[in-house]
Amino acid sequence: IAQVKKGPDPLTLQEKRIKDILKEAYDKYKNDQSGTNADYIPELAKVDPELFGIVVVTVGGKRYGVGDIDYTFSIQSISKVFTLAHVLQEMGSEAILDKLGAEATGMPFNSVMAVELQPGRVGNPFVNAGAMATTSLVSGKDQTEKWDRIQAYYSDFAGEPLAVITSVYKSESKTNQHNQAMAKLLASYGKMYDEPATVVDRYTKQCAIGVNTKQLAVMGATLAAGGVNPYTGKQLLSPEEIPKILSLMLTAGLYDYSGTWSYRTGLPAKSGVGGGILAVIPGKGAIAAFSPRLDQAGNSVRAQKAIAHISKELGANIF
Ligand code: DON
Repeated sequence: IAQVKKGPDPLTLQEKRIKDILKEAYDKYKNDQSGTNADYIPELAKVDPELFGIVVVTVGGKRYGVGDIDYTFSIQSISKVFTLAHVLQEMGSEAILDKLGAEATGMPFNSVMAVELQPGRVGNPFVNAGAMATTSLVSGKDQTEKWDRIQAYYSDFAGEPLAVITSVYKSESKTNQHNQAMAKLLASYGKMYDEPATVVDRYTKQCAIGVNTKQLAVMGATLAAGGVNPYTGKQLLSPEEIPKILSLMLTAGLYDYSGTWSYRTGLPAKSGVGGGILAVIPGKGAIAAFSPRLDQAGNSVRAQKAIAHISKELGANIF
């Protein structure tokens, strides 16, 4: 922790303001009913759409929260950030560029056309094609070990054990034919680095990991703090890999709405169809927000609005 806390924790300096700003954002958007729950994973359609929670965690470990911050939801695509972190740490950033790529596709997150337009293009680690390719690169002597490493790594980021939400995992396993097809398609281009069916299963499981907004914010604060978990002090990846992850979050974290998001907020962020969004303020902290109703691209409406409001009030735009 000492190595990341070079001076006073800049967000903590605004302690009173942060509490007020969170409350403001919550009150401003708690009645916003635009968007709809994801329903292509049937279990996600059942989640109460009114749930809404926001948490800020600073690099110094201060936490501020409002709303349903203890509710556990599936991490979904936000998992892609942490599997990427694991693989980056194991393989280095040039291998990521070579095997996965770093270009935004400008297309929906599960687009087959994005793969076919430049045949075999994986895109980046945050679209489903690239994320499954990333998951296929996790090392281990067998499938059990590969999975255990993912789960343990995510848990280290949260600073406490995280578990799969079985109902979500089962629900998506029954309905993920599209991802199965895409994994095979990638394999046909030599872009799956493990057996496709087992990769899709591992990927589906990682998406079904349960987190609450507090845990998610700690995961983000760990990225903000140069890879050191602010609570456990554990270094989870080298600080020089962090900008690689954050740059991808900035350009591809909210899928085909990533450009608009970056334009409005100037903050690296990643969304998931479970309703969570995690934004990282480098060197300062992270904002996690959760509410199930999504826009057309698959990003939580309230979470986007709340984070945009908070980031503006805190002057968190990195540019
Ligand atoms: O693979 C899928 O479709 C989901 N498990 C995750 C997609 C997702 O979260 C995209 N998010 N906005």
